[in-house]
Amino acid sequence: MTNIPRAGVIGNPIAHSLSPKLHGYWLNRYGLEGSYTALKVTEDALEKTLRELPSQGFIGANVTIPHKVNVMQFADQITDRATLIGAANTLIFKDDGRIFADNTDGYGFMANLRQGAPDWDPKAGPAAIFGAGGAARAIIVALADAGVPEIIISNRTRPKAEALRDDFGARISVIDWVQADKMLEEANTVINTTSLGMVGAQDFKVPLDKMRKDAVVTDIVYNPLKTPFLIAAEKLGCTTVDGLGMLLHQGVPGFERWFGQRPEVDEATRQAVLS
Ligand code: ATR
Repeated sequence: MTNIPRAGVIGNPIAHSLSPKLHGYWLNRYGLEGSYTALKVTEDALEKTLRELPSQGFIGANVTIPHKVNVMQFADQITDRATLIGAANTLIFKDDGRIFADNTDGYGFMANLRQGAPDWDPKAGPAAIFGAGGAARAIIVALADAGVPEIIISNRTRPKAEALRDDFGARISVIDWVQADKMLEEANTVINTTSLGMVGAQDFKVPLDKMRKDAVVTDIVYNPLKTPFLIAAEKLGCTTVDGLGMLLHQGVPGFERWFGQRPEVDEATRQAVLS
């Protein structure tokens, strides 16, 4: 076995993951010894894989669909934010074989927003969120942490939005999907966390004309980079931030823990991942 530190991303499907490109670029940029690979792992094989990876030289891993929730049961230590979100995307394998689990999606979301919209003030007004899936959970935790006074959620399947309100409390209100555009009247932060607008998915059909001109608008979809949702917001004069940066920034804490160097997310990083 080599002593070169290994990390990777565990998921299924995994072929289209951009994480190997991202971490490979950073390893190369900083001249670090290490490797980062895509690991296709089925749900049945998740525990066995996690137990075996450390003996193969793995010091950690990212976790993506469909394992983000399931992986929690195999972790020996879980950060507060991963517990709150109910999912993990970053693992560290300790020397004694114990697994430490964290969730950096909310961090990635916030770092992207702050980089793309430096004047954004979380306390300036409510945030409106389309969608109530796993990504929305991480984003809600991050927004609440940042001091957003009120979070309005609208989701096609309303009970899922209500479950988030029950979990995260008083600052959250729910609006019906057929009236989703109403939440835009007040919101100074607007976020699409649904898959609508992604290549191959359905279009985003909620009317956006009620969006405030001074709103900061972001989408977690990054394929295409400029989604119809962001194009509509841009036309209204809003500040827009695309979703690629969230993916790049969520990788930062893991890379730093595994390879000992805090990596930069800049234009060169974006280009490397897009190439
Ligand atoms: P993630 O973990 O990336 O958030 P997810 O948990 O599958 O993924 O959530 C996907 C989100 O996109 C959900 O809010 C989903 O709405 P439902 O809860 O009603 O399924 C939303 N979504 C997906 N397809 C949609 C569509 N055609 N119309 C409206 N919302 C849709």
